[in-house]
Amino acid sequence: MVEFLARADDYLAALGYTEHGSRHASLVAHIAHNVLSRLGYSDEETQLAAVAGYVHDLGNFIARENHAQFAALLAYQILRDLEYSPADCATVMGAVGNHDEELGQVIDPVSAALILADKSDVHRSRVRDPANAAVDIHDRVNYAAERSFLNVDAEDRSITLELTIDTSISGVMEYFEIFLSRMIMCRRAAERLGCSFQMQINELKIF
Ligand SMILES: [Fe+2]
Ligand SMILES: [Fe+2]
Repeated sequence: MVEFLARADDYLAALGYTEHGSRHASLVAHIAHNVLSRLGYSDEETQLAAVAGYVHDLGNFIARENHAQFAALLAYQILRDLEYSPADCATVMGAVGNHDEELGQVIDPVSAALILADKSDVHRSRVRDPANAAVDIHDRVNYAAERSFLNVDAEDRSITLELTIDTSISGVMEYFEIFLSRMIMCRRAAERLGCSFQMQINELKIF
């Protein structure tokens, strides 16, 4: 699995994409686990969310297009070898296969947690070459993001993406120019978990 992750990251590096390797996988696993555990979901579901988070981008070394579905099929083979039950394999596969904003749907709590975790990882550390921020909007927006934190408030039933953006590098409009569909997906995911979705950029509540 580590080899596949490294290959996926190499492939996306060649295409000029931001970091999608072990850092992103581990962070998404951690955040997805955190989302469900804070909202009181079972240990089984929180662990499946972590597994889904770790494997969700594995398919990128096969192809960027449909990478979510390729990752789901790769995950099945790995989890089957680890003797996960068919039901648990199906939960992870469904979440992984639906994490991309182009074709994905929020199908259950594990998929909702994965979407929220994945889409909230916008950060300077994902940019491979800071010089590229001048010419590439994805690098620029990520490079401008100095802090990104998904705040889950179980009492208030709200999930807030807190961002600190250096607006001298990229304005807030550029963030929404490339990530609006992701934020809409996050709102649907939060709703599936019985929560509202909010954004706070530089201490300012957006919605
Ligand atoms: Fe992905
Ligand atoms: Fe991802």
